[in-house]
Amino acid sequence: MTDKRNILVTSALPYANGPIHLGHLVEYIQTDIWARFQRLRGQTCYYVCADDAHGTPIMLRARQDGITPEELIAATQKDHEADFADFLIGFDNYYTTHSDENKEIASDIYLKLREDGHIRTETIKQAYDPEAEMFLPDRFIKGICPKCNADDQYGDNCEACGATYAPTELKNPVSAVSGATPIEKDSEQYFFKLSDFSEMLKKWMFEDGHVQSEIANKQSEWLEEGLQDWDISRNAPYWGFEIPDAPGKYFYVWMDAPMGYIASFKNLCDKTDINFEEYWGKDSKNEVYHFIGKDIARFHTLFWPAVLYGSGYRTPSAVFCHGFLTVNGQKMSKSRGTFIKARTYLDHLKPEYLRYYYAAKLSDGVDDIDLNLEDFRQRVNSDLVGKVVNIASRCAGFIKKKFDNQLSAELPEPDLYNEMVAAGEHIAECFENREYSKAVREIMAQADKANVYIDDKKPWVLAKEEGQEDNVQKICTQGLNMFRLLMTYLKPILPETAEKSEVFLNTELLWNNIEQPLLSHTINKFKPLITRIEQEQTDAMTEDSTENMPVAEVVTGPLADDPISDEIQFDDFAKIDLRIARIIKAEHVEGADKLLQLTLDLGGQSKNVFAGIKSAYKPEDLEGKLTVMVANLAPRKMRFGLSEGMVLAAGPGGKDLFILNPDDGAEPGMRVK
Ligand code: MSP
Ligand code: ZN
Repeated sequence: MTDKRNILVTSALPYANGPIHLGHLVEYIQTDIWARFQRLRGQTCYYVCADDAHGTPIMLRARQDGITPEELIAATQKDHEADFADFLIGFDNYYTTHSDENKEIASDIYLKLREDGHIRTETIKQAYDPEAEMFLPDRFIKGICPKCNADDQYGDNCEACGATYAPTELKNPVSAVSGATPIEKDSEQYFFKLSDFSEMLKKWMFEDGHVQSEIANKQSEWLEEGLQDWDISRNAPYWGFEIPDAPGKYFYVWMDAPMGYIASFKNLCDKTDINFEEYWGKDSKNEVYHFIGKDIARFHTLFWPAVLYGSGYRTPSAVFCHGFLTVNGQKMSKSRGTFIKARTYLDHLKPEYLRYYYAAKLSDGVDDIDLNLEDFRQRVNSDLVGKVVNIASRCAGFIKKKFDNQLSAELPEPDLYNEMVAAGEHIAECFENREYSKAVREIMAQADKANVYIDDKKPWVLAKEEGQEDNVQKICTQGLNMFRLLMTYLKPILPETAEKSEVFLNTELLWNNIEQPLLSHTINKFKPLITRIEQEQTDAMTEDSTENMPVAEVVTGPLADDPISDEIQFDDFAKIDLRIARIIKAEHVEGADKLLQLTLDLGGQSKNVFAGIKSAYKPEDLEGKLTVMVANLAPRKMRFGLSEGMVLAAGPGGKDLFILNPDDGAEPGMRVK
């Protein structure tokens, strides 16, 4: 064997404001299999991760839930850790980016970058919510797409037409935090001069092959265009670490998040005798790998290596990107019941089924992978139950009944056994290169061979014949030794079944001693290792994952795209004061292409309302009509004046807007309830 390798692997740090779902698990399972494989081959391999605990969404989510961000991230981390543990993800350390270690590392890195002239400041204009008194990230501005006019689009890209743009280009922008119209406001920001590292990054990415070619080619577009400096600061109020010597300025979450890899490892080193410098020091000879999804490649292949290099750390040995999960061929969807949380899966199914299925699908590329639930059942049942475990269950009984659990002193077919040992090298290569689907295919080809052998020898027939005892013992010994090989190869994927097999075979499954078969060896009683997946189980999981509508029905029409909202209590409803109103005046608004200005009479009291219904109604058609309005909505300052409520209308927009009319007899001012 060559020198022992010292490896550190990480998976991306999941955000601390939502549950782990089956999409995330593609990555944690992929990484865990690789780490377990390395250890099984005798390497030192640490696997660390953490929750990504900072940023505006977490701050706002905590506010919305009426708790502190600290409380939110603590509760989420607890759930994440339980989910990961139950999926047999074997972290050596799981931490949080909101830690003392990370704070220190973040300031330290920043100060080194500043000292070497890689930080500059600039006053820039940004969207600001005058009501919530905060600067707004693009994601928190919504409005009409400037390209296709689709309603309700985010500030940075349109989900309807795929256009990307600046939030200032959105039509009728509103803040998703308060509903106010954002204004532009100047503030001083801190920039990391990424362009200082263009040459270093080109070399790192292309010459040294640290990145898959698909990803390197994608990033090269940015490199060609010339790298833009990167705004690493955010204004208060922000949930994160304050920047040294810059009161009221915080590190952007994507600045301190990757540092969380280092901080989590540092935390592990402080609890053990692992040498931190040997992994992260400039001259480190050890290997460091980041497993991530393709959506966050830019952060990990441009910003992160540059930040590390610029602050005197080593750069990663490689960044491994994977594709996205689809379920039954489509993006995960709550209404279809395919947005499956880790916990919901675990309520119905064993973690190893999913680990095996993902392994059977994963390659070293960035293609998306599909979880087809029917294929999932068939694949797991036929491969694991039908092929692998079947070998053990067909041989174990005879060894127990007739030979007191004792294996024979020799193998009847050593060549067959040696062939399967030799196949191990190719299987190992596939694991090493993250070609898990190839590894699985090869393991199953070996399982097929073993089954052919047993089918051919029929120990259950021989067992009934006179004078065949020896033969039966040898055939079953051959079978169980082949099972041992298969379970050794599958151990990184199926740690729990491997452990049960170790108890059954009364030996530890190690990759480095497989040449030596188990002979004249006593095994233990066979207990079922894996059970079949039944359709009821996956159906029940889908049903539990379906929000708002039963799965069995095919929902079409408006509900299909816009499912019914989360349940509320009567008290929530009662807060909304709905009143009959008469539209006494309706006028065009100068400069507004969607709005009409309505004057509503509530029976003695009048309200001014701007309604986005110009595309569907002429002012003269509205005057005199009765409608329903939300009378107690907080007034909202708009570009054209104060809007003091809302009229109710249905429909997707454009010409398809229908305002509500009460039945005859209703009078202005009546409460609607
Ligand atoms: N917090 C950042 C990562 C910071 S790393 C310094 C983040 N978090 S995340 O929770 O959104 O995603 C965590 C990882 O899960 C990412 O690598 C992401 O690509 C991966 N996945 C999230 N959804 C996924 C699928 N549907 N399919 C496959 N992987 C997915 O990004
Ligand atoms: Zn659009």
